[in-house]
Amino acid sequence: MPAPDGSIASSTVNISGVHYRTIWPTATGSVRVIDQSRLPFEFATVDLETLEEAASAIRSMVVRGAPLIGATAAYGLALALRQDASDARLEEAARALQATRPTAHNLTWALARMRRALEPVPVSERAAAASREAARICDADAEQCRSIGRNGFELIRRCAESCGRPVSILTHCNAGWLACVDWGTALSPVYLAHDAGVEVHVWVDETRPRNQGAALTAFELAAHGVPHTVIADNLGGHLMQRGRVDMVIVGSDRTTAAGDVCNKVGTYLKALAARDNEVPFYAALPSSTIDWSLDRGADIPIEERPAAELTHVTGRTSSGAMQTVRVVPETSPALNLAFDVTPARLVTALITERGVCAASRAGLQSLYPDRPDSRPLASAAPSDSATP
Ligand code: MRU
Repeated sequence: MPAPDGSIASSTVNISGVHYRTIWPTATGSVRVIDQSRLPFEFATVDLETLEEAASAIRSMVVRGAPLIGATAAYGLALALRQDASDARLEEAARALQATRPTAHNLTWALARMRRALEPVPVSERAAAASREAARICDADAEQCRSIGRNGFELIRRCAESCGRPVSILTHCNAGWLACVDWGTALSPVYLAHDAGVEVHVWVDETRPRNQGAALTAFELAAHGVPHTVIADNLGGHLMQRGRVDMVIVGSDRTTAAGDVCNKVGTYLKALAARDNEVPFYAALPSSTIDWSLDRGADIPIEERPAAELTHVTGRTSSGAMQTVRVVPETSPALNLAFDVTPARLVTALITERGVCAASRAGLQSLYPDRPDSRPLASAAPSDSATP
């Protein structure tokens, strides 16, 4: 568990030598999160006191990344029950949180887990039970991400042994510590490798339009001391052609039971380039990201965000002020779809907390035989139908 200020005694380093989680409860019952909208220029926290504040933090991306969205929703439910823990309030709060962002499955998963835990609890004890369950979700996420790290580390270590030089890993968006409660998904193996003395270098896709790569992935890799270089989103294919990428590791917002991987828009193009250049393409995800009810990536809801995120760019001027400027003609319409789907056939393997498996129904079933809904469908459709 973190200390009251969110810091954790650890051998790893995140911010000025202190290892933080991204979310933790305060002594007064509010929930503290790192305000990711201010990074990389300012490390600040914000306290969430109400359901509305938690929902707004998710919607406006003060917190973001599939596992952290789930964790924040769990605490949002706990905040909602502080005044009124009736069945009606539970239902209303779960609906409000579910409506914040449609794509990350961890949101649906966390709300379902909270409801399963709370519905049998007497109303008078529900608020306290909700805080405890949200804390358990956070602890489990941190532990699962750590396990993803251990499993992915083996892939990096083997690659280092065979290539005999620093391993070059390309990643897209931010699937690191900031996207989760701790450690990260795609970056967890990178941190473990770096800490174990395996030399790595990360190509960081800037990840337009919100620049989670340039702002967040670069920030956390720099804070941890991992060698990295920020690149334009479109450079990855060229680097792969020149043999300068050993593997791609990305996260996922929702992975189907057949292994199709939905992640930040642009991921699919990286997978195509990786396949063309025989570069292994891995997706790292905890089981809370797997939507066992879906077989086809084409059925995943893709979030459409405000066009202003595309038509404008925000940054810091040389005087230190934050400024937002327009980069698209006033008259041009813009379409801002936030995610895309990489068909399972382009994914070399999935890295999960239980191990590494083929991106297929059989592969996932081999790691999760205890999931009753992971059994093969009688008439399972082919899984490469991931057209948006
Ligand atoms: O829109 P975001 O910033 O929430 O999108 C985040 C991503 O796409 C991550 O790659 C994904 O959540 C995997 S996170 C561990």
